[in-house]
Amino acid sequence: MNAPPMPDAPRCDRTAAWAALSGHFQAHGRELDLREAFARDAGRFAALSFEAAGVFADLSKNLLDIATLHFLAELAKQCRLPERRDAMLAGATANPTEGRAVLHTALRAPRGSDAPHEAEVHEVLDRMLAFAEQVRADAQLTDIVNIGIGGSDLGPQMAVQALAARGRPDKRLHFVSNVDGHDLAPLLARLDPAHTLFIVASKTFTTQETMANAAAARDWFVARGGRDIARHFVANTTNLEAAADFGITTTFGFWDWVGGRYSLWSAIGLPIAVAVGAEAFRELLAGAHAMDRHFATAPVARNLPMLLGLLDVWYRNFHGFPSRSVAPYDQRLARLPAFLQQLEMESNGKRVDLQGEALPFATSPVVWGEPGTNGQHAYFQMLHQGSDVIPVEFILVKTPDHGLADQHAKLLANGLAQAQALMRGKTEAEALAERAPTAAGDPAVIARHRSFPGNRPSTSFVLDALTPTSLGALLALYEHRVWTSGALWGLNSFDQWGVELGKALAGALLPRLTAQALDTQGLDGSTAGLLARLRG
Ligand code: F6P
Repeated sequence: MNAPPMPDAPRCDRTAAWAALSGHFQAHGRELDLREAFARDAGRFAALSFEAAGVFADLSKNLLDIATLHFLAELAKQCRLPERRDAMLAGATANPTEGRAVLHTALRAPRGSDAPHEAEVHEVLDRMLAFAEQVRADAQLTDIVNIGIGGSDLGPQMAVQALAARGRPDKRLHFVSNVDGHDLAPLLARLDPAHTLFIVASKTFTTQETMANAAAARDWFVARGGRDIARHFVANTTNLEAAADFGITTTFGFWDWVGGRYSLWSAIGLPIAVAVGAEAFRELLAGAHAMDRHFATAPVARNLPMLLGLLDVWYRNFHGFPSRSVAPYDQRLARLPAFLQQLEMESNGKRVDLQGEALPFATSPVVWGEPGTNGQHAYFQMLHQGSDVIPVEFILVKTPDHGLADQHAKLLANGLAQAQALMRGKTEAEALAERAPTAAGDPAVIARHRSFPGNRPSTSFVLDALTPTSLGALLALYEHRVWTSGALWGLNSFDQWGVELGKALAGALLPRLTAQALDTQGLDGSTAGLLARLRG
């Protein structure tokens, strides 16, 4: 494959569009009042709602207007986002610090679409899906344990939970990630080796946690009389040699151009395929591919992932918002915020640009959240009345997979109401006019406590149903959005050197924890004191 070069492009803050955006922010953006904007413009919702690959997105409750979008689209053009996107999709070295292409999109391209690596992708995909069907048909295998961490855990775990309605009662999927034995031990206590399949998922097959858990699972298997490792252990990895050394003969490979946090579409998705079947897994890929096509072809001004990435830059660098909260009003998406934390914060939690220059502006926001309505009874207090403005992202699903219509209506009413309340707020006068149930004290003071500033932004996504297809599209939307903000900021969104130092230090501390005698030589006072305390 002849990969094109990655086009040079200016960093966002060095463009004329950035200066123009700053001017727009000073003149209009900072002061935009959503309540007034809706009162002024009956067409605001229509003008600021978008749809891509079945994902509907209402951006109208965000602190922007059509003019802001024009300025942002111009920034995208001056930063050559379309050219850089095209180069990445064609296999350019989009991850230069590791010298790798970035081609998770190739994993979901159908046969015949002329995507890079088509033959090898479909060879592994077909084999992996055939194996998944074999496991599904094997009545002896009732418990499937995925051992992996980070991208080798979060995506599959999140998707299996999201699509549980399509699962089978005779197949129980388990996910073990933490090196903490409290993760693996209680699970093993419930399992029978004869009925268990372990999937060891690790791109590198060197990750400490995964290797320790896989070794412990193998020891348990053998100690409990298990003999047939070939039948009860499989590996999904780019490091087939290490998997073979571990004693695993059934392996599904993938490639260095698939980042760990972008890998659920590869062999790492095996647990998803076992849970929902080959056909549904292909639907998941098809949904993502539909979003890929949109990302690859839609003009910037209507390109939903690009618009969201641009909005993220607008909020982080102009409004200065430190974080973004994700609120899936759908219990099935309970693990989505955790998945998105890795996707966004491991991708864009960087402070130097591609040339190694320190950035003079903020990058990745903190991404966090819980499913609604649970979050309402925990941290929404801060979202409504706290001192930080935190944009919230609501994910609403029109049709549920259960028959409890009353509960679903209540769920959606709550999601809508929270977005409405964040925007509307409540003035002190309104609060004063209400009859306070606990009206002890000065009514004006109490009214101040009971008032809400409002004008707090949110985005609402609506899916008609949570299906493999719509989930695939939603996840691909997030992936391309993260690329967009990262590309604007001039980052390499595809490396993760920031996780390495802690790994190396843990490796050095381990022998000090287990050695006969306490050795604190060369350690700082705090680490030495804690080490001594932990050794008892
Ligand atoms: O430590 C971070 C990380 O490298 C992630 O990027 C990755 O998803 C995770 O560890 C697991 O890595 P592996 O799949 O190689 O075990």
